[in-house]
Amino acid sequence: MKVIKTIEEARREIGIWRKQGLTVGLVPTMGYLHNGHKSLIEKAKAENDKVVVSVFVNPIQFGPTEDLDKYPRDIERDSVIAEEAGASFIFNPEPAEMYKSTFSTYVDCEGITEGLCGSKRPGHFQGVCTVVSKLFNIIKPNRAYFGEKDAQQLAVIKRMVRDLNFDVEIVPCPIVREEDGLAMSSRNVYLSQEERRAALILSKSLTRSKELLKNGEKETKKILEEIIKVIETESLSKIDYVEIVDSEDLAPVSTVEKPVLIALAVFIGKVRLIDNFTFIG
Ligand code: PAJ
Repeated sequence: MKVIKTIEEARREIGIWRKQGLTVGLVPTMGYLHNGHKSLIEKAKAENDKVVVSVFVNPIQFGPTEDLDKYPRDIERDSVIAEEAGASFIFNPEPAEMYKSTFSTYVDCEGITEGLCGSKRPGHFQGVCTVVSKLFNIIKPNRAYFGEKDAQQLAVIKRMVRDLNFDVEIVPCPIVREEDGLAMSSRNVYLSQEERRAALILSKSLTRSKELLKNGEKETKKILEEIIKVIETESLSKIDYVEIVDSEDLAPVSTVEKPVLIALAVFIGKVRLIDNFTFIG
């Protein structure tokens, strides 16, 4: 698998495809690829002539106390997975290639970034929007693939694309889970054996809320209480947030009338994990 490190070379390669009239799908990632990423690459391959996977641990979306330095990296392994899934090349720039020392332009998406992860990770979505804008400008994809695992990120990117008229179709992809229900994440490698078991509490609590919703419960306060109760049965867990919001604009809702997003972030030991599902009704 070809691993391209510079913007110039990526543009040259894509320029050749464009002259041939080929379509391009982009799968932005931070690497340490797993089957969740793989499903995005496979979908991109099914819908486009060429697929670019970007692997870039984007420093500007990490807070000062977050895991930037220890974020898992293994480009050799990523190359094998990306190739198997049908990627044409990996774009893997160094931070200095993406951010010159005088870099000073950022993309801010307001409102929709205020709750959920946005309130817990100040500056995070500015970092995400900025790097994704740069990737769109570098690769100029016809379509870009994002996982519903990061539901707020997906909503923010859709909003940014609409607001700034990026000429790219955003394609949402379903959450891929381990057999026991844990949502796949590059951060799962941080979990000890004991924490890995405890981490099941995220999907279990969501399953409980799904049951309540299916039985006709409409009051989000009651559903939230129940989710919190389930999570608190796990001694290794510490809730960062649990929210029920409108699935489009991510505003909190008190009664379930339209589709809602039930999203949570929970620390298992020191590892912060997220999960969610959308209830259509
Ligand atoms: P990363 O966490 O590597 O995720 C890359 C993409 O894979 C995201 O769209 C994410 O939602 C998707 N993904 C991760 N786990 C998944 C799972 N279990 N099922 C389905 N999709 C999954 O998200 C980022 O990187 C970064 O913020 C990025 C968009 C690349 C910007 O830096």
